[in-house]
Amino acid sequence: MKWKKIGDILIVDDNFTNSLDFKESTNKNSYLESIANKHKVKSIVKIDKISGQMREPSLSFLYGNESETIHKENYCLFNLDLSKVMWAKGNNQERFRIAKLVKKGETVLDMFAGIGYFSIPIGVHSQAEKIYSIEINPNSYHFLKRNIELNKINKKAGYERMNAILGDCRCEGPKYFADRILMGYVRTTHHFLKYAMESINDGGIIHYHETVPEKLIDSRPYERIKESAITAGKSEVEVLNIQYIKKYSPGVAHIVVDAKIYD
Ligand SMILES: C[S@@+](CC[C@H](N)C(=O)[O-])C[C@H]1O[C@@H](n2cnc3c(N)ncnc32)[C@H](O)[C@@H]1O
Repeated sequence: MKWKKIGDILIVDDNFTNSLDFKESTNKNSYLESIANKHKVKSIVKIDKISGQMREPSLSFLYGNESETIHKENYCLFNLDLSKVMWAKGNNQERFRIAKLVKKGETVLDMFAGIGYFSIPIGVHSQAEKIYSIEINPNSYHFLKRNIELNKINKKAGYERMNAILGDCRCEGPKYFADRILMGYVRTTHHFLKYAMESINDGGIIHYHETVPEKLIDSRPYERIKESAITAGKSEVEVLNIQYIKKYSPGVAHIVVDAKIYD
């Protein structure tokens, strides 16, 4: 990547600041202004890192000073402040894939909802009956609620079809039962499988994300799901699909396992 446009903000990376055009421009401000005008954006930012359990970004402004925007993706609107919440580039196809899998009448539980990365496309594109979206970060929760309104999800349904819940999915998750559970989190997702097992209905599907060494893609995620299912007293795990999302780090892939769980 060199840049990615999120709403009316341009996110650039090292490839941009290391490029000859940028390095050799004698007047950086006017160079950046011309890029901003070309892309019709109000700010150009660089995300230095995303850290911690709440996946909080640290941001530097190269041009402008506004970080809140409304981004459009897959016919959904996402209001977010890039200085407070992350935007995962490279997950857009997955966000749409999941929405298309949801069947009429399903209850969906999103354990790591963020600003509604997965829940909002489900609310917009599927006929799910009920969507519970749990988020621990108050900043993300604020935008999650805002995005439910912005996409008119409850207004169009005429009832509280999508619920934003502020809290830890380990406490809040097991209060609900669901036909489909989204576990859109990386690195330590396996520690949360036991809570998903408490909520999943018989024959329900868990979308389990894992960052896994490439040579273990076909074994480790399945073994972790299976072990958690057995401990929870489930009878069977059927792997429906293993979806490659993107390269996470050298030799490590971000994948999603769609696993059907039977009582
Ligand atoms: C940022 S999302 C992952 C990105 C998403 N997969 C995408 O496609 O863009 C992960 C979210 O999980 C939230 N989170 C982390 N631990 C949590 C927990 N125990 N309970 C609920 N939410 C949690 C974080 O605050 C973060 O907003």
